[in-house]
Amino acid sequence: MPSSEFTADLTETLCVESTPSPCGLVIFGASGDLTSRKLMPSLFRLFQRNLLPDNFFVLGFARSPLGTHGFRERIRKDLSEQSAATPQTVENFCEQTYYLPGSYDDPALYQELKKWLRDLDTRHDTQGNVVFYLSTPPRVYGAVAENLAEAGLLQQGGQKTSWRRLVAEKPFGHDLDSARQLNASIAKCLAEEQIYRIDHYLGKETVQNILMLRFANAIFEPLWNRHYIDHVQITAAETIGVGLRAGYYDTSGALRDMFQNHMLQLLALVGMEPPSSFEANHVRDEKRKLLQCIRPFCPQDVEQHVVRGQYLAGEVEDQQVRAYRDEDKIGQDSETETFVAARFMLDNWRWRGVPFYLRSGKRLNERRTDISIAFKPVPHSIFNPLLPEHLAVNILTLNVQPLEGIALRLQAKRPGPKLCMSTLDMAFSYHDVFGDHPPDAYERLLLDVMLGDQTLFIRRDNSETQWSILMPILDYWQKAGSARENAGLTFYPAGSWGPQAAQELIQKDNRMWLNSND
Ligand code: BG6
Repeated sequence: MPSSEFTADLTETLCVESTPSPCGLVIFGASGDLTSRKLMPSLFRLFQRNLLPDNFFVLGFARSPLGTHGFRERIRKDLSEQSAATPQTVENFCEQTYYLPGSYDDPALYQELKKWLRDLDTRHDTQGNVVFYLSTPPRVYGAVAENLAEAGLLQQGGQKTSWRRLVAEKPFGHDLDSARQLNASIAKCLAEEQIYRIDHYLGKETVQNILMLRFANAIFEPLWNRHYIDHVQITAAETIGVGLRAGYYDTSGALRDMFQNHMLQLLALVGMEPPSSFEANHVRDEKRKLLQCIRPFCPQDVEQHVVRGQYLAGEVEDQQVRAYRDEDKIGQDSETETFVAARFMLDNWRWRGVPFYLRSGKRLNERRTDISIAFKPVPHSIFNPLLPEHLAVNILTLNVQPLEGIALRLQAKRPGPKLCMSTLDMAFSYHDVFGDHPPDAYERLLLDVMLGDQTLFIRRDNSETQWSILMPILDYWQKAGSARENAGLTFYPAGSWGPQAAQELIQKDNRMWLNSND
């Protein structure tokens, strides 16, 4: 019997899952970490579940001088940790993979790629359909798209008889101007319907569930507004540090790395109006409208309602860890933030006056991403002498990871004396109800690209709006940085919940961060 208070009647579960049409997948940057850690394992799991088309191939493309043989060796190694995989299944999967070495900016190589694609298309009967996946440093995105276009590789068949799609990993730009330029250069080569900008948070089951919870249940919508909700908190806490990504991270920082994409997308999903259907452009239209309602940050807002922090040495998960500035390839004077907490206000009828507090950081006390909707207190207490403020408020928490689920905090009577009140959590855990942990976000996203469903991908206007929300903060920090030491950077010991200033940010509104033992 599951320990969760909820059970799912699986016989009544509505499952809509399709297998994509035949296609090939070309991965640029195929010798990199993302391919090994995420793309190949996800493709393999789709293969095991018969969700890849029967007619399918993967062509890896990267600088590393591997051949198909070497590429397959790597895949076998990457998949060796898949417990349920028999050697024969791995072999069957590997037989559909190939590798072409080359430099992304060499036009001659795209002619070579064209020949490969022609051959592989014939061999696997993939009907001319190709996904190009950019898992390269973003600075080469524009050049790859142009080279593909020049080689005629982005041309779709007439009346969409065959299709070509491009997937781009984040970061998509470094600021608003560079994002616009990148979008403009890619738009010269492909239509928006062919472009799939990844925000892997959107592929997480629990993130997709936000829309199901809000719009497939009638009980939430009447309460989902400023009349009943006091505030919203979104936390994405990580225990890991900068790891091997110092080169990228030190020029990015938490605001660009987590807020520009994942955090603002979570905010949009919680705050958006119901779309008229679960169709890609309807959903993305509503997200854009919501993002456009975020009150622009003026310099005083940045000073008062945004906190940037950087981790010092400390203890995380019983291990002593270094300060950010002592990490490999990070300078002693780095002013890059590894933590941000901010208060966002939304100016529309639904949310006016309801603060959204967002925080995200590395080397925090625990790994946890969740969204908490804190409801208003009861208007009057009938439980004399208890006042309304003595009664803990209801909180709906959507646990995105690692323990995926939903919890509703309620007040209830405890057996005992007449006024014995206590707080209890009604909790649903994905794992308890549905068995396994949810699939990796990349499985969903890769499948959706092949199916041509853009709902979980970032449209150009969404991405640019997200940048424009953050630009006043980035500009302010940059100016402050040239005017004074540390640009308002505050520090926190690794293993804590961030700088003291993050506590003060919310405490000055008479609230506190939820679900953290600080
Ligand atoms: C990535 C960021 O987009 O998301 C990383 O670049 C971060 O810095 C990661 O660690 C977090 O993703 P997840 O799925 O582990 O929460």
